[in-house]
Amino acid sequence: MTNELKVFSGGSNPALAQEICDDIGIPLSRLATSRFSNDNLFVQIKESVREMDVFVIQSLTRPVSDHIMELMITLDALRSASARRITAVIPYYSYARSDKKDAPRISIAGRLIADLLKTAGADRVLTMDLHADSVHGFFSMPVDHLTAVPTICDHFANTLNLSRAVVVATDAGGAKRAGRFAKRLNTSMAIIDKRRISDSDVKQGLVVGNVKGLDAIIFDDEISTGGTLVTTVHTLEKAGVNKIYVGATHPVLCGDAVQNLDASSVTEIIVSNTVHIPEEKQFSKLKVLSMAPLFSQAIQRIHTGESVGALFK
Ligand code: R5P
Repeated sequence: MTNELKVFSGGSNPALAQEICDDIGIPLSRLATSRFSNDNLFVQIKESVREMDVFVIQSLTRPVSDHIMELMITLDALRSASARRITAVIPYYSYARSDKKDAPRISIAGRLIADLLKTAGADRVLTMDLHADSVHGFFSMPVDHLTAVPTICDHFANTLNLSRAVVVATDAGGAKRAGRFAKRLNTSMAIIDKRRISDSDVKQGLVVGNVKGLDAIIFDDEISTGGTLVTTVHTLEKAGVNKIYVGATHPVLCGDAVQNLDASSVTEIIVSNTVHIPEEKQFSKLKVLSMAPLFSQAIQRIHTGESVGALFK
């Protein structure tokens, strides 16, 4: 019986996987992925994992379906290769947004993907800032749910004068998340009433809480089309805020998000590297904080059976 730890990477964020391995001090383990002429994916594990503790890092980013399939096939290949325990490390679990039945005849796909991960061979999941805390319960296996909040808060605490700052939740759903942020920064908080009109369009109304003359720090779990943020910026401008900063864990940045955010009055946008940002989507207002140290510590603690929660105490 061996107690060796191995880390593999899918194709979605190899830079983060490499950084995590560098932090742990082990090489990234090898697998080969290719496609048959009929478009079927093929994954081969290139080294023995027999009786080992194996972690596979894959964010569910664009092309999401391909990355999910690659993860499933990799998990299955590792199980067939007699890995002792397999952890799916999913820094960004995109399907957490499909977390409720809010229209007739739809799938709660966040739960479906959780079931499929188990079927494919995952024994446990390690993830970060799920869209809703309740998504944790979709998994019928242990889940360690990390958060980027302390790292992003530390950045603002070290760079801003927080005595005139207010943390803003873009909608009621994000109030709890933003509340943790405000508590950590010891600031007041405001919540905006938001309605989603379509995938990229939102409408906002009432601002609950005092923001006038203050520096606003908007905190959200992800920036996807940027529609929520740009609308929030306009709402806050009308309400008379001073400067506007943004903290968000997952920089999905699709559609015109980059152009729209760059053109907005936001001073600085702090995100994490759970989602790989290609060079053409980087802009001067955007600052990326690495989550590799946090994932590396969590992986080592899972491996040695130590508390992961203790990382946040
Ligand atoms: C809201 O439901 C979420 O917390 C985010 O605000 C949302 O996912 C961001 O999406 P978008 O950037 O497309 O508005």
